[in-house]
Amino acid sequence: MAKVIATISLKGGVGKTTITAGLAEFMSAEFGQRVLLIDLDSQINLTTMMISEERWFTLNDHGDTLAALFADGIHGENHFCLESAVQRGVSPVKRVTTVDLLPSSLDLIEIQEELSVLRATDPGRALTILRDAVKPVIDYYDYVLIDCPPNIGPVTLNGLAMADAYIIPTIPDHLSTYGIPQIQKRVRRFGDEIGRTIVELGVVISKFKSNSRVHGSTVKRLRRDPTIQNVLPNYINEANSVAASAEFTPYGTLKGKYGNQGQFDQFRGLTSDVLTEAQSKL
Ligand SMILES: Nc1ncnc2c1ncn2[C@@H]1O[C@H](COP(=O)(O)OP(=O)(O)OP(=O)(O)O)[C@@H](O)[C@H]1O
Ligand SMILES: [Mg+2]
Repeated sequence: MAKVIATISLKGGVGKTTITAGLAEFMSAEFGQRVLLIDLDSQINLTTMMISEERWFTLNDHGDTLAALFADGIHGENHFCLESAVQRGVSPVKRVTTVDLLPSSLDLIEIQEELSVLRATDPGRALTILRDAVKPVIDYYDYVLIDCPPNIGPVTLNGLAMADAYIIPTIPDHLSTYGIPQIQKRVRRFGDEIGRTIVELGVVISKFKSNSRVHGSTVKRLRRDPTIQNVLPNYINEANSVAASAEFTPYGTLKGKYGNQGQFDQFRGLTSDVLTEAQSKL
């Protein structure tokens, strides 16, 4: 059975997409896992990181994105084809060979509004469009990683409706950590609505600055906070090479892409943390 993990936060720009992409690539190249990435964000960042903007344009023209899937679900039509939408063997890193992607689209912005209307009139259908579509292929994968937009709108809820667990990336400063209790509460409440628990795997410290007093004290505070289940032991430091990973540039290895001055080890360590948590809690 595939384990499904959503990456979620109410705060934008905290590294959700960077971490989701890194986890998929390291799960594949370092831990031999088959991974499906699902990009639920209309900003299409994960999609362009994995397949380039050029290839996305073509897919979008052909209706091979999640916007087409949701449009079908809303209008009761049947244009979306899972087989042609799933992009196989994505990532610009040669060593990464077992990551597939369901691409997003800028058109999801409008879909989001229509989906909100459907959620009011037919909540069951509005929440299960994604889960039902992915069902035929899901057990081919060891992990499904879902990158969510920085909100808990109906598109994100489609991700949560099929998620076993979630991680919360945060920059360790006051404004970024502020929304963590809200996220936990909203996910818990949604779990109650659908009748099962969506497990909190942990908070992921992102863009950590080892020379920052605020970052140091915020991490300590998070670790002491009894309402936070778990701060994963490995952090991702702020680094130029990690920022550059957002560009679709060919690399031979993960060390080449993420950098070999601690960055590779941090991503590998974080991936190991997530796999350990998932194996023990799911
Ligand atoms: N460890 C890091 N070091 C340096 N830059 C980073 C790091 N992680 C992410 N970034 C950069 O910070 C910006 C935001 O990161 P990212 O897009 O991953 O965040 P996000 O939470 O997905 O944002 P959004 O909420 O808009 O989806 C990007 O420009 C990214 O390249
Ligand atoms: Mg993002």
